Amino acid sequence: MTQYVAAIDQGTTSTRCMIFDHSGRVVSVDQKEHRQIFPRAGWVEHDADEIWANTRQVAAGALAKADLSAGDVAAVGITNQRETALVWDRTTGRPVYNAIVWQDTRTDRICQELGDLGGGQERYRAKTGLPLATYFSGPKVRWILDNVEGAREKAEAGDLLFGNMDTWVLWNMTGGVNGGVHVTDPTNASRTLLMDLDALSWDEGIAADMGIPVSMLPEIRSSSEEYGKVRERGALAGVPIAGILGDQQAATFGQACLSPGEAKNTYGTGNFVLLNTGTEKVMSENGLLTTVCYKIGSREPVYALEGSIAVTGSLVQWLRDNLGMITDAAEVEQHARTVEDNGGAYFVPAFSGLFAPYWRSDARGAIVGLTRFVNRGHLARAVLEATAFQTREVIDAMNADSGVALTSLKVDGGMVVNELLMQFQADILGVPVIRPVVNETTALGAAYAAGLAVGFWASEDDIRQNWAQDKQWDPAMDDETRERQYQLWKKAVTRTFDWVE
Ligand code: G3P
Repeated sequence: MTQYVAAIDQGTTSTRCMIFDHSGRVVSVDQKEHRQIFPRAGWVEHDADEIWANTRQVAAGALAKADLSAGDVAAVGITNQRETALVWDRTTGRPVYNAIVWQDTRTDRICQELGDLGGGQERYRAKTGLPLATYFSGPKVRWILDNVEGAREKAEAGDLLFGNMDTWVLWNMTGGVNGGVHVTDPTNASRTLLMDLDALSWDEGIAADMGIPVSMLPEIRSSSEEYGKVRERGALAGVPIAGILGDQQAATFGQACLSPGEAKNTYGTGNFVLLNTGTEKVMSENGLLTTVCYKIGSREPVYALEGSIAVTGSLVQWLRDNLGMITDAAEVEQHARTVEDNGGAYFVPAFSGLFAPYWRSDARGAIVGLTRFVNRGHLARAVLEATAFQTREVIDAMNADSGVALTSLKVDGGMVVNELLMQFQADILGVPVIRPVVNETTALGAAYAAGLAVGFWASEDDIRQNWAQDKQWDPAMDDETRERQYQLWKKAVTRTFDWVE
């Protein structure tokens, strides 16, 4: 009897394999970080070969830790950092360039030029649900074809493949150069700026605008069906791969936000708030994205409104790695607890420009409100508060777009262990913040998608039943203080604009 489902979570900073049982509990996990490559200011890359090697290693590690073998696993699901773009040679299996990470801003000029063709930043909104911004994959592929010698000719000859990290992992797991499956799902495809949100197929006009041959794009299948079996001689050999969801959509699924009006916020490298809008596609008028939430087998797709925030957890990493102000992420809470408030300091981490709701690639980070009074504790507090204020901004936009005010927020991800941040988040939103027992909702969501496809779970009702609350934080700040602080934050944000020409 196969009693478990596995998930590969290929994230921005690490790759993990997690094994879940039927109740959605974590049985085992193995994880490996990969290098963050910063060749220039604003550029962020990953070594795709390193990521594939790590994927194999953590799959073996997770099984070994629980003393399991492939025969114990009913299916494997894949979830991934979205938008990160890779181009590789289908005959050698070698990437032609490092993966260009979602945070990378090198395509600023390409986006500008595309917008100048007419329509500006809104040029592709009606078709794709997205503003024209450096965040998405299409312009990154264009950059690779323009800048890697010989790439464009090879792409036009049909020798190159494009994929986000889901596709790269799937192609390799299913045999690579020996018949690897070149497939993605609509949640990932909806982040490329190349997919028609209604038809769930590649838009040839946009691909032509960007100079991207359609032949290099993966086939778009559903988020929950069998794509193939693990063919490489690894720990999971023979197991069906049966689920693909971009990591934020996977977290939404794992959090059981399965009905219109339900939303979650994941605190990872960045923060991503997704609101399930059901089979209705809501177009944002307030700086949010319209995206595919999931598509289960042949059923109609479910859509979401998304507020994407580029820098939250990665600001804490930056304090650790670039400033050496802390040695461990947990220390930021200890420093923040040494003071009563932020001492007047606001930290706007516009390291990749600003994403939702501003979409300004000309913005760069700023710390404002400094006086000699401000100490390390205040700065630590400003760092944590930045996450909560940015979340408030996208929730405000969501309430305006949907016309209904959110009454509570489900949270997950690395930073939700930070009690001070969670309380401040509830305070600044003015609604309760709720953390589930299983906080690993991203991997869990991918496991659910795969398990549903093979009948390991019968229906989404199983997901609802498995979800359980761990802790709730209720707002404790008075309205006047909340609004005063939020207005100061808004003022701080304006100080980051027009920094890059
Ligand atoms: O859109 C980017 C997002 O998918 C990255 O998520 O958790 O890997 O930082 P994460």
